[in-house]
Amino acid sequence: MRTMRAITLAPGVADSARLDEVGEPPVAEGSVLVRTTALGVCGTDHEILSGLYGSAPPGEERLILGHESLGVVMEAPPDSGLRTGDHVVGIVRRPDPVPCMACASGEWDMCRNGLYTERGIKERHGFGSEFFRLEPDFAVKVDPALGLTAVLTEPASIVAKAWDHVDRIGRRSRSWQPRSLLVTGAGPIGLLAAMMGAQRRLDLHVLDRHASGPKPQLVRELGGHVYSDVSALAGLSFDVVMECTAATPLIAQAIAHCAPAGIVCLLGVSIPGQKAEFDIGGLNRTLVLSNQVVFGSVNANRGHYEMAATALAAADRPWLDRLVTRSVPLSRWHQALRTQPDDIKVVIDFREELSSG
Ligand code: BGC
Repeated sequence: MRTMRAITLAPGVADSARLDEVGEPPVAEGSVLVRTTALGVCGTDHEILSGLYGSAPPGEERLILGHESLGVVMEAPPDSGLRTGDHVVGIVRRPDPVPCMACASGEWDMCRNGLYTERGIKERHGFGSEFFRLEPDFAVKVDPALGLTAVLTEPASIVAKAWDHVDRIGRRSRSWQPRSLLVTGAGPIGLLAAMMGAQRRLDLHVLDRHASGPKPQLVRELGGHVYSDVSALAGLSFDVVMECTAATPLIAQAIAHCAPAGIVCLLGVSIPGQKAEFDIGGLNRTLVLSNQVVFGSVNANRGHYEMAATALAAADRPWLDRLVTRSVPLSRWHQALRTQPDDIKVVIDFREELSSG
């Protein structure tokens, strides 16, 4: 059996990640064979690495990590719409087998019964191996001109879905025309939300704890205002608020700064049990009297990946390049998993490192 290197871990066991030699992906995982270019690391990966989240495929003890992929097609069936050499990103979620009404209609991101699976997260191996396989319907072609920044397609798909749902909710009112956007948190998701807000020509405001450094600079280059202290937002309200920190105090602030008829989208996944005093009666009164909506959003369907690819292709390339703050070769993979203060997106670069197999 031909083997390849893969970053694996035992879900539920903290610090169990290692670089393993595993068998090449079975054809059952898809007819499209992809050679990995790069893998992005995100907060969910850190949670999985700490043993707090994630599960291995049934009957297996270890999970191949990674859901933010980028690779080059090595083999694809003639009717797949893909060719050798195409740059592709893998879709993370697979529909539940029942399937529920949402999964049956290609909206696995809205799965109703929780039986979905996710590459590198829930019961399916991820993309953190030298090769991976995809079903043609779960491979998204990306512009080769994006280079390594195409690894941002998956996080951008999450943001594209959030915008898609803001638009759909906004259509409840014929006069809805958002003008201002507040983003809380200038990590990769927050910056991509800000980038798409700037593409929509919204008046952009970003709250982040960093007062200086690359994050506020990137926001300013989008024409946005930066706040490092929530008190500076006093008296301001915004048509759309995208909460990307999952930090308890900021979730309350995000809602407090929503304008009448405005929409708050919660994008961060918080750790349960962080209790704080909260005026639920006051929240209800404001939501009702001001027709506000607070909604949560997770994952993305194929349409959102395509929207993400379009948004990235329309972005300023040098700006996008600066979102990828560290690129670490596979042989030093563990360095990529250790966070550093000015990190935005850290990627593991699989190029020039192929083992002979
Ligand atoms: C991924 C999503 C996934 C979610 C929950 C996120 O990091 O980007 O695709 O649905 O984690 O598992």
